[in-house]
Amino acid sequence: MTHARQHPTQVVAHRGASEDAPEHTLAAYRKAIEDGADALECDVRLTADGHLVCVHDRRVNRTSNGRGAVSALELSDLAALDFGSWKSRDPAGGPRVEEPDWEHRPEDREATSVLTLERLLELVSDAGRRVELAIETKHPTRWAGQVEERLLLLLKRFGLDAPAAPADSPVRVMSFSARSLHRVRAASPALPTVHLTQFVTPRLRDGRLPVGVGIAGPSIRIVRSHPEYIERLKQSGHQVHVWTVNDAPDIDLCTSLGVDAIITNRPRAVLDRLGR
Ligand code: G3P
Ligand code: CA
Repeated sequence: MTHARQHPTQVVAHRGASEDAPEHTLAAYRKAIEDGADALECDVRLTADGHLVCVHDRRVNRTSNGRGAVSALELSDLAALDFGSWKSRDPAGGPRVEEPDWEHRPEDREATSVLTLERLLELVSDAGRRVELAIETKHPTRWAGQVEERLLLLLKRFGLDAPAAPADSPVRVMSFSARSLHRVRAASPALPTVHLTQFVTPRLRDGRLPVGVGIAGPSIRIVRSHPEYIERLKQSGHQVHVWTVNDAPDIDLCTSLGVDAIITNRPRAVLDRLGR
């Protein structure tokens, strides 16, 4: 299966506009849409009561004022937490060192509350323009298929689980786990899938991906050290989506190699560099 694209490099906001606003919050995704991002990236995990929420780490400790594993907390526990104020704190845990540089309105509590994937899908549906979604399944093996099952059910509710063709789909599923992508493909063959890689593997070296996966998702470190793999993947008809690309030399490298999507914490800066 190939997914050759005709249009220019997509700019994907990694965890939202996460340099400016707290990652994986409505504030960060609203900012990314305002900034003109073509797509939004999010990580999804299951809560103890079976809701898909957008959180990167296994625990909420880094990005909220709470503690504990997402999988051990219910959605109501997470809803009581603040996922915004850490962004303007000293990383060592000290007092606030600066004012938030996104438009923080305390009355808009939802902007920095835990974000469900359902709410993010609503945001994208209401964006008023096409905004794609790159959804990454986190630790899918722990849940023996439940993450993918819940994900596909939710996509179905939004009419997004069965695109006519991969190129038409505004949603794609990403994972470091080939097994997770296989589960998605088995249930929804036309949904595009992205295999993320942070280490060089023999398969990647040969320009190959797991069976049926159309899109490669190498880290920028791999692209810097082995640009020839990107050329090989593209020659094999695969799209290449690179993460996490924040600085001008890396943006230029990706552009020169013709990568299909740049995943970045700074969507506005990348768009500027691309002259858009
Ligand atoms: O977009 C892929 C990238 O997000 C994978 O790494 O750790 O940021 O989820 P991570
Ligand atoms: Ca991710």
